[in-house]
Amino acid sequence: MDLNLTVNEKQVSLPATGSDSLLDVLRQAGYTGAKRGCETGDCGFCTVILDGEPIKSCTQPAVAVDGGTVETIEGLGTQDDLHPIQAAFVDNAALQCGFCIPGMIMRTKGLLDENPDPDEAEIRAGLSGNICRCTGYEKILDAVQDAAKRLDESSMAADGGRERPNDESSVSCDLGESNE
Ligand code: FES
Ligand code: FES
Repeated sequence: MDLNLTVNEKQVSLPATGSDSLLDVLRQAGYTGAKRGCETGDCGFCTVILDGEPIKSCTQPAVAVDGGTVETIEGLGTQDDLHPIQAAFVDNAALQCGFCIPGMIMRTKGLLDENPDPDEAEIRAGLSGNICRCTGYEKILDAVQDAAKRLDESSMAADGGRERPNDESSVSCDLGESNE
């Protein structure tokens, strides 16, 4: 059968057999950023975002996602124009062999899409299904915190620097202090 999917905002029709996982289908179609690790749902290397939720694509039967919307690492930045999450991982030296990183970044994107300002415990919990054998995780934590800041700054820039309800300056107004 052919699966009709939206992958990285593009409508595609991808061949699939009844036993294929979503990871199989994506990789066969050239979306090889999602890595094949354990194939038992334990490592997270195959993480993609399906209908807004990060999932482990190796354990997701492909036929069940017909009509779905998938985001893969290929839909983020490019080598010359990294997505803020990718740039944060690079600048914080949060990768060594790199094999876990596409899954880690897609997990991070899912986390920050849902919770743009997570604390350390929330980041640890959010990434707990993704394993890294190289980094010891501390630099990954730094990268996710940095990515949250970068995304906040870029969304403020896109807003034209408008105040948000939880800006300190707005709180000052609520407290009746002068901004002059
Ligand atoms: S390859 Fe999917 S969780 Fe390991
Ligand atoms: S950087 Fe090597 S497994 Fe994470």
